[in-house]
Amino acid sequence: MKQDLEQMDKDFVLHTYARDYTHFVRGKGAKIYDERGTEYIDFTAGIGVNSLGHNHPKLVESIASQAKNLIHTSNLYLIEPQARLAKKLSEISGYKMRTFFSNSGLEANECAIKIARKYGEHENRFEIITLKNSFHGRSIATLKACGQDKMHTHFAPFPNGFIYAENIVNAIEIAKNRKSVVAILLELIQGEGGIYAMPRDEVAKLREWTQENDVLLMIDEVQSGVYRSGEFLCANAYGVTPDVVSLAKGLAGGVPIGATMTNKIDVFEPSEHGSTFGGNFLSTSAGLCVLEVLEAYQKSGELSENIAFFEEHLRELQAKYERIFLGISGLGLMRGMQTPSDEILGQIIKAAKKEDVLLLKSGKSTLRFLPPITISKEEIKEGFERLTKALDSIKI
Ligand SMILES: Cc1ncc(COP(=O)(O)O)c(C=O)c1O
Repeated sequence: MKQDLEQMDKDFVLHTYARDYTHFVRGKGAKIYDERGTEYIDFTAGIGVNSLGHNHPKLVESIASQAKNLIHTSNLYLIEPQARLAKKLSEISGYKMRTFFSNSGLEANECAIKIARKYGEHENRFEIITLKNSFHGRSIATLKACGQDKMHTHFAPFPNGFIYAENIVNAIEIAKNRKSVVAILLELIQGEGGIYAMPRDEVAKLREWTQENDVLLMIDEVQSGVYRSGEFLCANAYGVTPDVVSLAKGLAGGVPIGATMTNKIDVFEPSEHGSTFGGNFLSTSAGLCVLEVLEAYQKSGELSENIAFFEEHLRELQAKYERIFLGISGLGLMRGMQTPSDEILGQIIKAAKKEDVLLLKSGKSTLRFLPPITISKEEIKEGFERLTKALDSIKI
């Protein structure tokens, strides 16, 4: 059965991923099981998507009960959970913003790019500055927005108007010298670029400068948003109010969703942007459920306690394996541990998998942790015990 499925996948699915053929069949919390019943601790949460872990009873119930009524109508009609989720996003972030809903991170960023282009149209400002090592998606426009040369090797021609800065200080310098700059788009913690957290003082300066110069500050929170930093948005944790925020991954706990929040509420006229699926009953009711669970979880203090517990384990690991781990980065439950090389990182991820812990890579040589936001202390402890066993086998 497993062999047949694997062959079917190889024969019929386009090979855009270097797939690991482990066949997962069920999960519970931060534990996930393959078809032989082997239990893994999931420190990946589906690359930051399963914010409530697997099989959360409230999310399961919410999806099932919504599906019994309506899954989809179209954006031509009123969609109650969409309106409620947009209100919730504004309240919970503390930002006076409205939201456009789509289905993925790249779509959330595509909308952000369109907002910037339309906002600057009358003054012929269209350039968007992004940062080195950033990642914003895989559509033609969002690929071009990524500040990584390797993303621009195929698929040309790309749209013009993206400029890459080395860092925030450099982004301000560039913007000062170019009249056509309309926006700066960045991740506060680079998710694919090595879990690099932007320096707080630079972000504060950037907000000040962009505000004074009418340049939009657009924060890509596709990976860092929805309580991953410990606060609802990473921008909340940094204490800045952006002009545009893009969200996706963890927002609906696994149901595809994208969201672009903005204070530029009059930029679009009806029909200038849209999405067939975006904001439908299923995804937005799931989003509401996720936010209700996580808001209460954060208010109870359990989230910050578990983040501290996770952090302690990272520090212990680094102290024990100081030749393997050169540093710890990130915030909350979006963490990286820097290793000496991509080869060693590959060995670690493989050895961890053998000990039944799932982990991710980020950048060239950073070990990435994106556990469910609701991961329990017991699951954290178990995951790190298994990872410790795996690290004992690494020769360095
Ligand atoms: C920061 C960031 N932006 C955008 C994206 C693209 O999201 P999606 O794969 O849902 O299009 C990702 C995905 O990893 C991301 O981490």
